[in-house]
Amino acid sequence: MKFLMVCLGNICRSPLGEGVLRHKAESRGLAWEIDSAGTGSWHIGKPPFHMSQRIALKNGIDISRQRGRQFERGDLAKFDRIYFMDRNNYEDAKRIAGNLWDESKCRLLLDELHPGGQINVPDPYGYPETEFEKVFELINAACEAIVVRYGRERDLGYLAKE
Ligand code: 4NP
Repeated sequence: MKFLMVCLGNICRSPLGEGVLRHKAESRGLAWEIDSAGTGSWHIGKPPFHMSQRIALKNGIDISRQRGRQFERGDLAKFDRIYFMDRNNYEDAKRIAGNLWDESKCRLLLDELHPGGQINVPDPYGYPETEFEKVFELINAACEAIVVRYGRERDLGYLAKE
Protein backbone atom coordinates (compact mmCIF):
# COMPACT_ATOMS: atom_id res chain seq x y z
CA MET A 1 0.00 0.00 0.00
CA LYS A 2 1.02 3.61 -0.46
CA PHE A 3 0.62 6.15 2.34
CA LEU A 4 1.15 9.91 2.38
CA MET A 5 1.41 12.04 5.54
CA VAL A 6 0.55 15.74 5.16
CA CYS A 7 1.03 18.79 7.38
CA LEU A 8 1.65 22.50 6.72
CA GLY A 9 5.43 22.89 6.54
CA ASN A 10 6.55 19.25 6.03
CA ILE A 11 9.34 19.84 8.55
CA CYS A 12 7.78 19.00 11.96
CA ARG A 13 4.78 16.64 12.02
CA SER A 14 4.46 14.84 8.68
CA PRO A 15 8.19 13.94 8.51
CA LEU A 16 7.65 12.20 11.87
CA GLY A 17 4.60 10.44 10.43
CA GLU A 18 6.65 9.30 7.44
CA GLY A 19 9.60 8.09 9.53
CA VAL A 20 7.53 6.37 12.22
CA LEU A 21 5.20 4.57 9.80
CA ARG A 22 8.14 3.45 7.62
CA HIS A 23 9.96 2.14 10.69
CA LYS A 24 6.91 0.15 11.83
CA ALA A 25 6.20 -1.18 8.33
CA GLU A 26 9.80 -2.28 7.78
CA SER A 27 10.02 -4.01 11.13
CA ARG A 28 6.90 -6.02 10.20
CA GLY A 29 8.06 -6.89 6.70
CA LEU A 30 5.42 -4.75 5.02
CA ALA A 31 6.57 -3.47 1.60
CA TRP A 32 4.70 -0.20 1.89
CA GLU A 33 5.56 3.04 0.14
CA ILE A 34 5.48 5.97 2.53
CA ASP A 35 6.04 9.66 1.86
CA SER A 36 5.17 13.05 3.35
CA ALA A 37 4.39 16.53 2.04
CA GLY A 38 3.36 20.00 3.20
CA THR A 39 0.55 22.15 1.89
CA GLY A 40 2.93 25.15 2.11
CA SER A 41 5.99 25.78 -0.05
CA TRP A 42 8.41 27.40 2.45
CA HIS A 43 10.46 24.30 3.25
CA ILE A 44 10.78 22.51 -0.09
CA GLY A 45 14.09 20.61 -0.15
CA LYS A 46 14.76 21.17 3.57
CA PRO A 47 15.50 18.44 6.13
CA PRO A 48 13.11 17.96 9.07
CA PHE A 49 13.24 20.56 11.88
CA HIS A 50 15.99 19.68 14.39
CA MET A 51 13.54 18.99 17.24
CA SER A 52 11.63 16.48 15.10
CA GLN A 53 14.92 14.84 14.12
CA ARG A 54 15.94 14.62 17.76
CA ILE A 55 12.72 13.11 19.10
CA ALA A 56 12.73 10.57 16.26
CA LEU A 57 16.33 9.60 16.97
CA LYS A 58 15.57 9.26 20.69
CA ASN A 59 13.09 6.62 19.58
CA GLY A 60 15.57 4.86 17.29
CA ILE A 61 14.39 6.42 14.01
CA ASP A 62 16.67 8.44 11.71
CA ILE A 63 14.66 10.93 9.62
CA SER A 64 17.65 13.15 8.73
CA ARG A 65 17.69 12.18 5.05
CA GLN A 66 14.03 13.06 4.40
CA ARG A 67 13.43 16.28 2.45
CA GLY A 68 10.47 18.63 2.35
CA ARG A 69 8.16 18.79 -0.65
CA GLN A 70 4.84 20.39 -1.39
CA PHE A 71 1.57 18.49 -1.63
CA GLU A 72 0.34 18.33 -5.23
CA ARG A 73 -2.83 17.33 -7.04
CA GLY A 74 -1.15 14.21 -8.46
CA ASP A 75 -0.76 12.83 -4.94
CA LEU A 76 -4.44 11.90 -4.98
CA ALA A 77 -3.80 9.36 -7.73
CA LYS A 78 -0.42 8.15 -6.39
CA PHE A 79 -1.44 7.17 -2.85
CA ASP A 80 -3.98 4.76 -1.36
CA ARG A 81 -4.34 6.64 1.93
CA ILE A 82 -3.56 10.27 2.69
CA TYR A 83 -3.41 11.32 6.35
CA PHE A 84 -3.66 14.93 7.48
CA MET A 85 -2.27 16.24 10.75
CA ASP A 86 -5.01 18.84 11.22
CA ARG A 87 -8.23 20.10 9.76
CA ASN A 88 -6.57 23.09 8.08
CA ASN A 89 -4.16 20.79 6.25
CA TYR A 90 -7.16 18.75 5.08
CA GLU A 91 -9.03 21.79 3.78
CA ASP A 92 -5.91 23.30 2.12
CA ALA A 93 -5.15 19.99 0.35
CA LYS A 94 -8.76 19.77 -0.80
CA ARG A 95 -8.42 23.18 -2.38
CA ILE A 96 -5.08 22.25 -4.04
CA ALA A 97 -6.50 18.98 -5.39
CA GLY A 98 -9.58 20.57 -6.93
CA ASN A 99 -11.58 18.08 -8.97
CA LEU A 100 -9.02 15.32 -8.26
CA TRP A 101 -9.97 15.28 -4.55
CA ASP A 102 -10.94 11.77 -3.42
CA GLU A 103 -12.67 11.86 -0.04
CA SER A 104 -12.43 8.08 0.38
CA LYS A 105 -8.61 8.19 0.57
CA CYS A 106 -8.32 11.18 2.90
CA ARG A 107 -8.65 11.37 6.65
CA LEU A 108 -7.24 13.03 9.75
CA LEU A 109 -4.40 10.95 11.18
CA LEU A 110 -5.97 10.82 14.64
CA ASP A 111 -9.15 9.39 13.13
CA GLU A 112 -7.25 6.10 13.30
CA LEU A 113 -7.44 6.38 17.10
CA HIS A 114 -10.70 8.32 17.51
CA PRO A 115 -12.92 7.75 14.46
CA GLY A 116 -14.94 10.84 13.67
CA GLY A 117 -13.37 12.69 16.60
CA GLN A 118 -11.98 15.51 14.44
CA ILE A 119 -8.86 15.68 16.62
CA ASN A 120 -5.80 17.54 15.34
CA VAL A 121 -2.13 16.76 15.87
CA PRO A 122 -1.15 20.23 17.18
CA ASP A 123 1.46 22.21 15.26
CA PRO A 124 4.58 22.20 17.52
CA TYR A 125 6.58 24.69 15.41
CA GLY A 126 7.88 27.46 17.69
CA TYR A 127 7.10 25.51 20.88
CA PRO A 128 9.51 23.82 23.28
CA GLU A 129 10.72 20.27 22.86
CA THR A 130 8.09 18.89 25.26
CA GLU A 131 5.49 19.70 22.56
CA PHE A 132 7.45 17.61 20.07
CA GLU A 133 7.42 14.74 22.55
CA LYS A 134 3.62 14.94 22.81
CA VAL A 135 3.31 15.13 19.04
CA PHE A 136 5.58 12.11 18.68
CA GLU A 137 3.40 10.07 21.05
CA LEU A 138 0.21 10.95 19.13
CA ILE A 139 1.78 10.13 15.77
CA ASN A 140 3.35 6.93 17.10
CA ALA A 141 0.02 5.66 18.47
CA ALA A 142 -1.81 6.47 15.22
CA CYS A 143 0.87 4.76 13.12
CA GLU A 144 0.61 1.69 15.33
CA ALA A 145 -3.14 1.63 14.60
CA ILE A 146 -2.40 1.90 10.86
CA VAL A 147 -0.06 -1.11 10.81
CA VAL A 148 -2.56 -3.14 12.83
CA ARG A 149 -5.40 -2.17 10.50
CA TYR A 150 -3.71 -2.50 7.12
CA GLY A 151 -0.76 -4.75 7.95
CA ARG A 152 -2.69 -7.99 7.79
CA GLU A 153 -2.50 -8.19 4.03
CA ARG A 154 1.23 -8.62 3.48
CA ASP A 155 2.66 -7.59 0.16
CA LEU A 156 3.00 -10.78 -1.88
CA GLY A 157 5.87 -9.39 -3.96
CA TYR A 158 7.90 -8.81 -0.85
CA LEU A 159 7.25 -12.32 0.49
CA ALA A 160 8.21 -13.89 -2.85
CA LYS A 161 11.65 -12.28 -2.57
CA GLU A 162 12.35 -13.92 0.80
P1 4NP B 1 4.60 21.39 10.37
O1 4NP B 1 5.00 22.68 11.23
O2 4NP B 1 3.37 21.76 9.56
O3 4NP B 1 4.32 20.34 11.39
O4 4NP B 1 5.80 21.06 9.50
C1 4NP B 1 5.25 23.91 10.62
C2 4NP B 1 6.53 24.22 10.24
C3 4NP B 1 6.80 25.45 9.65
C4 4NP B 1 5.78 26.35 9.45
C5 4NP B 1 4.49 26.03 9.85
C6 4NP B 1 4.22 24.80 10.42
N1 4NP B 1 6.05 27.62 8.89
O5 4NP B 1 5.14 28.46 8.84
O6 4NP B 1 7.18 27.86 8.43
